[in-house]
Amino acid sequence: MSSFEDLCVQYRGIPLPREGYSEDLKFFEEFNFKDDDILIVTYPKSGTTWMQEVLTLVLNGGDLTPFQTIPSWQRVPWVEIKSMVEHVEQLKSPRPLSTHFPCNLMPSSFLTSKAKVIYVLRNPKDVLVSSYYFHHMAVFLEDPGTLDEFIEKFLKGRVIFGKWTDHVKSWKCAELGDRILFITYEEMIQDLPAGVRRVSNFVGRNLSEEVIQKVADNCSFKSMKDNKMSNYSTVPKETLDFDKSPFMRKGIAGDWKNHFTSEQQALFTSAIRKELEGESFTLPWSLD
Ligand code: A3P
Repeated sequence: MSSFEDLCVQYRGIPLPREGYSEDLKFFEEFNFKDDDILIVTYPKSGTTWMQEVLTLVLNGGDLTPFQTIPSWQRVPWVEIKSMVEHVEQLKSPRPLSTHFPCNLMPSSFLTSKAKVIYVLRNPKDVLVSSYYFHHMAVFLEDPGTLDEFIEKFLKGRVIFGKWTDHVKSWKCAELGDRILFITYEEMIQDLPAGVRRVSNFVGRNLSEEVIQKVADNCSFKSMKDNKMSNYSTVPKETLDFDKSPFMRKGIAGDWKNHFTSEQQALFTSAIRKELEGESFTLPWSLD
């Protein structure tokens, strides 16, 4: 069994999966952000794919063709993955882009541009549970061990992209003003049309209520689970083993309650609170 160190590369203090990444990210450091780019930012397992689908449909006014014919990662590519450069080059402006990077690792052109950011936040306990299952299915990641062991790794940042708290802090503290929209996974669960409306207003598309409803219907969990262009089922089994877990797994808020013991919950909450002590922002949900 391969160790975490074998499976990751380190980039400026952040562990990245060796699959898709290298220590040499010169192409990313030289990435040229444009003023009208729209960047989806997430800590992994926070609802990246969901927002990629919402943004695709919002930007093209609800046209389902690309959504049904092109995989999500080609339509809204990750800027820090070298094999995605060709997809980025094919995008028309405004370019929908994705990143899992913390703000402090963004290339200088990002800070000087007016590119907009949609940051999707998800309750870290649900992020952890989702990630736990993803570690079982993603052949290129370390075996997560027991939930206790995985909680310890997650809290120490011994997971891909480092600590959840560092990621959130970096983007919450970045002085991006109205360039950044914070939206939660939980609010999209509660009222997806309202979430689609927020995204659409933020990117300057005034969609009719009919189109907003169409986008929400096509981005429901069921609809995305059935869409081969959203559900990652086209990825070979050597990379993602769907016999272990589906990528579109449960799609709910609060699944942590089915997994955490009260001791794990207390330990997790106090560790996250400690990491966020003294920060000027508050989280949109109670950690209890
Ligand atoms: P679960 O494992 O809790 O089900 P990411 O895209 O950042 O990797 O996040 C994946 C998580 O988002 C998974 O969570 C997945 O099921 C969930 N997800 C994806 N599309 C969704 C949708 N339309 N509605 C609700 N959850 C969705």
